[in-house]
Amino acid sequence: MSLDKYINQIVEGNCIEVMKNFDDEVIDLTVTSPPYDDLRNYKGFVFPFEDIAKELYRVTKQGGVVVWVVNDATINGNETGTSFKQALYFQQVGFNLHDTMIFRKTNPIPQIYRKRYNNEFEYMFVFSKGTVKTHNPIMVDCLHAGLELNGTTYKNFSKNEQTREKLAKPVKDKKIKGNIWEYVVGKKQEDQEAKGHPAPFPCELVRDHIKSWTNQGDIVFDPMCGSGTVARVATEMGRQYIGTDISHEYCEIARKRIKLIEMQPTLFIVEEPREEYRMETEEEALPPTRVWQNGGGSAKLNGSNSIKQ
Ligand SMILES: C[S@@+](CC[C@H](N)C(=O)[O-])C[C@H]1O[C@@H](n2cnc3c(N)ncnc32)[C@H](O)[C@@H]1O
Repeated sequence: MSLDKYINQIVEGNCIEVMKNFDDEVIDLTVTSPPYDDLRNYKGFVFPFEDIAKELYRVTKQGGVVVWVVNDATINGNETGTSFKQALYFQQVGFNLHDTMIFRKTNPIPQIYRKRYNNEFEYMFVFSKGTVKTHNPIMVDCLHAGLELNGTTYKNFSKNEQTREKLAKPVKDKKIKGNIWEYVVGKKQEDQEAKGHPAPFPCELVRDHIKSWTNQGDIVFDPMCGSGTVARVATEMGRQYIGTDISHEYCEIARKRIKLIEMQPTLFIVEEPREEYRMETEEEALPPTRVWQNGGGSAKLNGSNSIKQ
C-alpha cells in the first residue's frame, strides 16, 4: 500500500474505507471534528465512531497527535456526554489523552433560554500515540512582563512539595499560551470561503494546532474534512494534507478553497521563527502555572509597563 496517491488530495468517500488503504503509522497530525450527536444535518451519513477511532490509532505515527473537536447535544434537558464517552474510547484504543483543551467562541450563537447559560465552547481533545514527538508551543505576552516582585512570594506546585520562595528574576516577556483558545466564528474572509458547509473550523484554530504539533513537510489528515479547512491551512503552511469527506458537495467546496490558496503568486507560509523551549523534566514545566501570592511586598517596574501595587 502506498500513501502517495492520497497525498495532497481531497478524497470523496467514507473515511473508514479510505483509511483502510493507508499503511500503519503514516500520519503526523489529524485535526478533525465529527458530526456531533446529529446536531446538524450532514445529509444523514453513517458515522461508525469506534471503527474510526481504531483506524486513527493504527495510521498515526508514534508520537503523532489527533485533535478531536466535539460537543454534546442536549436531549430532553440532558447533555448526552458523547464527547467524554468518545475521549474515553480513544484511551481504550491506545491513545493518551494528552490535553483537554477548550475552543471558546467569541461570538457564540444565542440560544433559547432554558434555565442554563449560553453554550459558548467546544472540546478540543488532544490525543497522542505515546509521547508527543513535536510541540512548538505558542507563546503569548506576560501581563506583568519586566515586573520585579520584590518581597513577593509564590507557591511552587510540584508533585512532592509546595514551597514558598523569593522571586529572583523579573517576569519574562513571554509565556506558553494556556489551553483555552478563543476564536471568532465565520466572520473572517478566509472563513467565509467555506460558505455552503454548516460547521467549518475557523482557519485560525487549525493554524494554531498545525503550528503546535507539526513541522514543515509533515502529513496532516482530516478524515471528515467538510469544507477542507485543515487541508487549506496545511497547504498554506507548507505541510502535506489528506482530506476525506463522504459528501461530494463538501469535497467540491474543499477543492475550490485549496485551489485559491495554491493560486496565490507566492504561497504564503505562515510560520513564526521557532521558539526555543526546552524542558528537561515534567517538573520544569510547572512554574508557568504557579499561583502568585500577594506577600505584601512592593512591586518594582522594569521598562515601560505600569502597574499600581
Ligand atoms: C463537523 S463537519 C466537519 C467540518 C470541517 N472541519 C470544516 O472545517 O469544514 C463533519 C463532516 O463529516 C462528514 N462525514 C460524516 N460521516 C463521514 C464519514 N463516515 N466519512 C467521511 N466523512 C464523513 C460530513 O459530511 C461533514 O462534512
